[in-house]
Amino acid sequence: MTFTIAIDGPAAAGKGTISKAVAAHYGFGHLDTGLLYRAVGKRMLDGTEPVAAARALVAEDLEVDGLRTPEVAQAASKVATIPEVRAALVDFQRAYARRAGGAVLDGRDIGTVICPEAEAKLFVTASPEVRARRRFDELCGKGVETDYETVLAETRERDHRDATRADAPLRPAEDALLLDTSALDIAAAVAAAIAAVDARR
Ligand code: DC
Repeated sequence: MTFTIAIDGPAAAGKGTISKAVAAHYGFGHLDTGLLYRAVGKRMLDGTEPVAAARALVAEDLEVDGLRTPEVAQAASKVATIPEVRAALVDFQRAYARRAGGAVLDGRDIGTVICPEAEAKLFVTASPEVRARRRFDELCGKGVETDYETVLAETRERDHRDATRADAPLRPAEDALLLDTSALDIAAAVAAAIAAVDARR
């Protein structure tokens, strides 16, 4: 059995949490595709040319420490504007999407470019202020020293770069269900996502 659930949306909208919960609910695998771009972004910060880094990427690179920092997030958003980087990461994502037993992929272009044929598509969003507040709380919880205004500015910067790049910009697929999590708690957002997927099964 193959079944692909594509979950796209901007940073800190709740995609990761929802994707993990949806994957656990159906017993599917879950791929956080942002980690691919983060791994390449981190390699770039370490001095490797990004296209070469993307072409050499292996699954183990997604497990390395230090991919969740704000610096790596910005680097990921920058390497993600390079068409050759994106092209190098397509096969890995498509193979994962068609794995036996079902798959949830979350990212920016899963429903539009990587898996336009996905059986279920969600576009998860929330206001920039709500997303920045969530990311700020998460960073504080990890002991990262920052302030809300900085996180909000970084959120807006990344949104702008992700949505205006020429290749595979962030936008909802025409057949995606829009899920605004601004006023939803995690349980309500997950329940809405599962209801949307059930409607497609
Ligand atoms: O989801 P994330 O915050 O981990 O993603 C980091 C960056 O990677 C994001 O700013 C843009 C890029 N990205 C992308 O271009 N396409 C994807 N499918 C996933 C992430």
